[in-house]
Amino acid sequence: MEGELESRKRNSLLYDDVAEVLITEEQIQQRIRELGAAITRDFAREEILIIAVLKGALLFLADLMRNIDLPLAVDFLAVSSYGAGTESSGVVRILKDLDDPIEDRHVLIVEDIVDSGRTLDYLLRMLRQRRPATLHVCTLLDKRERREIEVPIDYIGFEVPDAFVVGYGLDYAEYYRQLPFIGVLKPEIYE
Ligand code: IMP
Ligand code: MG
Repeated sequence: MEGELESRKRNSLLYDDVAEVLITEEQIQQRIRELGAAITRDFAREEILIIAVLKGALLFLADLMRNIDLPLAVDFLAVSSYGAGTESSGVVRILKDLDDPIEDRHVLIVEDIVDSGRTLDYLLRMLRQRRPATLHVCTLLDKRERREIEVPIDYIGFEVPDAFVVGYGLDYAEYYRQLPFIGVLKPEIYE
């Protein structure tokens, strides 16, 4: 992987900011096939409603849904819990609510990363009040060491260490979402 990264760095402004690749594109795609198969099996022909949390879950959603063999609909929630920095403000704001009611539906929340757990805790409370038939959670990344609030997670792609990660949908100050892997930026980028 380091070889591929090195060769892309020579031609890319963006890749040059990456200090280390934690999870490769191939590892992500392989894990998503496994998650899609597990979800397909577990929901056993039920129709599901995927609620993707914008913007970080964008790429994960696109790949995951192509690996789920069930009738499904997609709706979006946009939330904000971070400013331009790397620390949570602890305050969750709903920037865009769902288009449709979720009452009596089998809901699967798709998240990019669970860090302190504050965002997911807030969303679970909010969505439970709307009386879905079932409510499950699938996150690509779990930064478990940083958890402040216990939250139930049904499907986890990868556990990641306590470092600020970017790529595959995750941003730093809105940049780096298009990187196809999960990586860590060079320290000077965060200064
Ligand atoms: P929590 O509320 O602390 O669990 O944080 C959840 C949200 O913070 C995620 O949905 C991400 O948008 C963002 N976030 C947390 N850790 C990272 C990271 O390492 N890189 C990029 N975004 C992160
Ligand atoms: Mg984010």
